[in-house]
Amino acid sequence: MTALPLWAAAGAPVKEESGASKAAVATAHPVATAAAFETLEAGGNAFDAAVAVTATLAVVEPYGSGLGGGGFWLLAGDETPAVMVDGRETAPAEADHDLYLDEEGERLEGASMNGPLAAGIPGTPAALVHITREHGRLGLAENLRPAIRAAREGVPVTPTYHRLAGFRRDALAASGDAAAIFLDNGEVPDVGHRITQPALADLLERLADEGAAAFYEGDFAETLVEGVRAEGGIWMPEDLADYRVVEREPIRSEYDGWTLTAAAPPSSGGVVLAQTLNILSGYDLEGADEADRLHYVVEALRRTYRDRNAHLGDPDHVAMPLETLLDPAYAAGQRATIHPGRATDSAALPPVVDAGGGPSTTHFSLLDTEGNRVAATLSINYPFGSGFMPPGTGVLLNNEMDDFAAEPGRPNAYGLVQGEANAVGAGRRPLSSMTPTFLEKADRLAILGSPGGSRIITTVLQAAFGVMDGDGASTIAERGRFHHQYLPDVIEHEPAAIPASVREELAERGHVLEEVRPFGDLQLVVRRGEVLEAASDPRGEGKAEVRPVLVAPATAD
Ligand code: DON
Repeated sequence: MTALPLWAAAGAPVKEESGASKAAVATAHPVATAAAFETLEAGGNAFDAAVAVTATLAVVEPYGSGLGGGGFWLLAGDETPAVMVDGRETAPAEADHDLYLDEEGERLEGASMNGPLAAGIPGTPAALVHITREHGRLGLAENLRPAIRAAREGVPVTPTYHRLAGFRRDALAASGDAAAIFLDNGEVPDVGHRITQPALADLLERLADEGAAAFYEGDFAETLVEGVRAEGGIWMPEDLADYRVVEREPIRSEYDGWTLTAAAPPSSGGVVLAQTLNILSGYDLEGADEADRLHYVVEALRRTYRDRNAHLGDPDHVAMPLETLLDPAYAAGQRATIHPGRATDSAALPPVVDAGGGPSTTHFSLLDTEGNRVAATLSINYPFGSGFMPPGTGVLLNNEMDDFAAEPGRPNAYGLVQGEANAVGAGRRPLSSMTPTFLEKADRLAILGSPGGSRIITTVLQAAFGVMDGDGASTIAERGRFHHQYLPDVIEHEPAAIPASVREELAERGHVLEEVRPFGDLQLVVRRGEVLEAASDPRGEGKAEVRPVLVAPATAD
């Protein structure tokens, strides 16, 4: 892929250093990066640091993730195989196939997006406890300390916060508690205005004392359920009491000597990445000119996103033809349908809604001094989720229910046209595109991921190409991006990501191109032998840091 240093001027912090005994952290917010080092310096491992970062991001990036949401945490060590902690939201038991349709079968506008009916049962609180107890070395009180401090002391509004709060102002204004915390007298707060979250700090403290029961059982759970039901939601106490984190085998595949390890269903990320690389393994991409390369990547994505939308869903509820989808012979069959000089037509379907709001969701990548690593992508879905905060809880709820095919065959907020495999159903986890990924070959390792809705998988794919080409972390993070997802049948690209002459060649082959605003917020760690680098996407406000860790004495509890 061509290096286009479009973002160099944006000046986001990117640090590169060498040395094998250092830790490397890239997150979407400097306070979260500091929380990771604080935890490592207290004697924690990468998994403790992941808990600290997750909880801190919930406070400092309230539009991106939170205790009212969920995520996928990919964990591994140099000698320990990877496991995916699935803390994805579940649909409440009262949810059925037609939850978001009226009696005439028409879509209930906004019902899967705004307010408590849009919210799945959160997984992040359970995941914080699970990761600490099963994989960490410190206690919950230590791992949650930086987040509790940030919630009490408050953090200043950043330009991204300001923009996204403007985008979701109406949804936030409709929820008294959300408005009181995230708006300023009903208006979008100015950059620099301090957001404090005392109720969230109280909840984190209770979580540290009592474990997951502090959120999922007892008086706090009752307050959540009452608040949700009073405003038209359908949560029941059992939905919370029954929530479980699941450890799953990640998707593994091979490409050009590299081992890819990425999120398994209920994320589509690993399957789509593996399938796309299987198809592309039949071409000499390095020897191809740029128009050919883009043509083949787009044609592969068109086919793999179509399979995603047709076949993938919650593995505990839907039978998926995973063996077939991941079979190199199946990829060879798909490759045979790709014409070298013509774009295939994706079937014509209704127009698609533009997601519009810019990055929410969040990813972080980290590596400790012992080789333990975490790639985690966390979400409440849309910026500020559903906008709804049950009174008295301090927890902003997700609108992850919109990731289901609310109306199979019609696009969701990310333009994904999905089928019955991802229909709404009681207890189901909505299909995700979040793609925390490890890429390994000999003494090389990359830890990567990004937000971006349906564009997450293509963002990770393009970064993976950069890693395999041996590019530096900051070059990979800066590079212009493109995207294709089968429907809409369009190559979306960032301004100047594809040179004009290549755009013309692609148009001649029948591709439709559309310029879109910059997308993604890649957080990346790359190790090549003794050289360790981290980069935070210059499109975002994150911070990457590589440095030695001096562990303070007497820390474990
Ligand atoms: O799980 C998913 O695929 C989505 N809820 C992710 C949303 C997202 O990345 C929004 N960021 N722009």
